[in-house]
Amino acid sequence: MAIVITVAQQKGGTGKTTLAANLAAALARDRRVALLDSDPQRSLTRWHETRSARSAPTVPLTFSDVSGWRLTAELDRLKRLHDVVLVDSPPQIDTDAKLAVRGASLVLVPVQPSAPDVWAAEGTLKLAREEKRPAAIVLNRVPPVSRLRDAIAADLTARKLPLLAASLGNRTGFASAFAEGLGVSEAAPRSTAATELRALLDELLGMTS
Ligand SMILES: Nc1ncnc2c1ncn2[C@@H]1O[C@H](COP(=O)(O)OP(=O)(O)O)[C@@H](O)[C@H]1O
Ligand SMILES: [Mg+2]
Repeated sequence: MAIVITVAQQKGGTGKTTLAANLAAALARDRRVALLDSDPQRSLTRWHETRSARSAPTVPLTFSDVSGWRLTAELDRLKRLHDVVLVDSPPQIDTDAKLAVRGASLVLVPVQPSAPDVWAAEGTLKLAREEKRPAAIVLNRVPPVSRLRDAIAADLTARKLPLLAASLGNRTGFASAFAEGLGVSEAAPRSTAATELRALLDELLGMTS
């Protein structure tokens, strides 16, 4: 049965779409991977369109942009045909976000080291608890040295919130790869961004397999 990783966080701009695209592109090298965009903003859809229009071939990825009442059936269909399904979700807790969380094997919650991100994550973690789904927080856009980051990590750990060991720095490589329809592991495989993404992927696969 496929692993479903839903990237969810009720705040916008925390890195959901970036994570979904990058994890999918990295996993697709040796797995059958599907992406499901359930966010009406459709940034992941644009990323995939850019990817499909590239002259040089990229590793194949199944893409779907179903939302609303068809989401659960579409997720089931994708699960039957793939090893991993990554779901990008809208920046609010609405019906689609709930369905995306309900269908997940793991809910991945990106949090930038700032108080509003942490507060917004609490709502998403509560939703995962209500839906009885495991969740994990990944710190994203972490500055090289940050007291706030350390304070936030300590606070999350003290509250027994599920913080991953892997985190992603604030790396322009994520934005430039995204603009080209690629993940960092494709656009700049030797970059720090790609190394960090690999560590995150290994940690996630360790939790889900
Ligand atoms: N680790 C990172 N380093 C640098 N920029 C990032 C990183 N993660 C996300 N971004 C940038 O942050 C912005 C918001 O990211 P996005 O994935 O669209 O968030 P969301 O889907 O949660 O709204 C984008 O411009 C993206 O390129
Ligand atoms: Mg998004």
